Amino acid sequence: MANFFKPSTKKQPTGQVISVLIDRLDHNGIGVGEYKNKSIFIANTLPKEKVTAKIAEAKSKFYKASVIELVNLSEFRVKPRCHHFKTCGGCDLQHLSFQEHLAFKQQKLIDLFSRNNINTNLPWQESITSDALHYRRKARVGVQYNKLGEPIVGFRQKASNNLVQLKECIVLVEPIKHVFTILTSLIKSLSLVKSIGHVEIIYTQHVSIIVRQLIPLNEQDKTLWKNIAEQHQWQVYIDNGKEVTPLTPVTPLFYQISEQSGISTKHAAESVINIYFEPKDFIQVNHHVNNQMIIQALNWLDLKEDDQVLDLFCGLGNFSLPIAKKVRSVVGIEGLQAMVDKATYNAQMSKLNNIEFFQADLNSNWGKEAWAHRKYSKVLLDPARAGAYGALVQLIDLDISNIVYVSCDPATLAKDSQLLISNGYTIEKIAIMDMFAQTKHIETMILFKK
Ligand SMILES: C[S@@+](CC[C@H](N)C(=O)[O-])C[C@H]1O[C@@H](n2cnc3c(N)ncnc32)[C@H](O)[C@@H]1O
Repeated sequence: MANFFKPSTKKQPTGQVISVLIDRLDHNGIGVGEYKNKSIFIANTLPKEKVTAKIAEAKSKFYKASVIELVNLSEFRVKPRCHHFKTCGGCDLQHLSFQEHLAFKQQKLIDLFSRNNINTNLPWQESITSDALHYRRKARVGVQYNKLGEPIVGFRQKASNNLVQLKECIVLVEPIKHVFTILTSLIKSLSLVKSIGHVEIIYTQHVSIIVRQLIPLNEQDKTLWKNIAEQHQWQVYIDNGKEVTPLTPVTPLFYQISEQSGISTKHAAESVINIYFEPKDFIQVNHHVNNQMIIQALNWLDLKEDDQVLDLFCGLGNFSLPIAKKVRSVVGIEGLQAMVDKATYNAQMSKLNNIEFFQADLNSNWGKEAWAHRKYSKVLLDPARAGAYGALVQLIDLDISNIVYVSCDPATLAKDSQLLISNGYTIEKIAIMDMFAQTKHIETMILFKK
């Protein structure tokens, strides 16, 4: 039977201009009010602000609208420091006073814990704070091309897959905050058009640029990259999708866990730890918060000389190495063999012979692995955003009394916490770590005990 289009007889409010009082922020930092008994989401607004807005979308359960005028301003509204803030999707909270960011993040955690039936009277500890700006040492920068084939170099626009052309990014550390204009004019000058997918930028000891090359580079373009690298003292690597190879002379990449972290020197003469890594390896993006986070994890684990510690999702040994300086032994488990090899190398370079690293997919069945049958007194876990539910179901059987859980995703943290609580653990301490300042993202640490 043929389907005939029937125009709806219901009046659609799209385009209508209305007045709304914002009463809260949603988990993405977007203002929410109420209109005709439904939630209405209006970006760039704050609680207690009265706004005039135009309805952009009317769904069965909610509306979306865009601001026309802020009738009164929140006492916490500040002028965004970045002139790209309105369009760039990288930051979410620049219009909110920095002092209020932690309250927003804490409330988001409380909401998620409440949804998972966890008592929200939580033992909050002082947050680890970050510099509000210039804290991020690593970023993936998108490259797209307009109809004329000209490059657009930047981050995604808010609520869109299109990129915003950036001039600078003020959350990036100083040495890399201006790379966008240099990259844009370089990519424009390349002979191969549309040859780059994205560029990763890292600043540790040097500026390293990893170019995701979609088609092989020709000699002419290699020379252009080499010249710009020499001019700005960049290390340039080419990622062809299978392997990453240096295009310019490079020195090994590493970052330091600094002396200030108060790591005792039981097992090694040096109190600075170098963590060597490859261009594509995971590293914590905020160097300062990482150092503070390690100190806190060591304190919360209350490490003793004869402790035997398990470090799950250990990556390059970011936590395992400093822990090993204080205890009898550490076993680190990581999914990627290349990271296991690098972590082992890092332990050797720090002359730590009380750590072993093993490869395992922690979310599949690992109960039969030999390392899972050893005795551990304490465990630290630091999973990716997907959380650690599959790992925790098995970890519970190891009956370890102290667990420090470091999380970069509050939704999976809440679900995983509920699992631990229903298996006899209690939350002894919880703290936010502002690893991703100006954004909605939250890093959290919880100490569970039983
Ligand atoms: C958030 S990173 C933390 C790494 C490290 N703890 C650090 O501080 O740098 C999460 C790590 O878990 C690893 N990972 C992700 N899924 C995994 C899985 N299913 N099994 C084991 N490791 C996994 C990733 O490769 C990554 O190294």
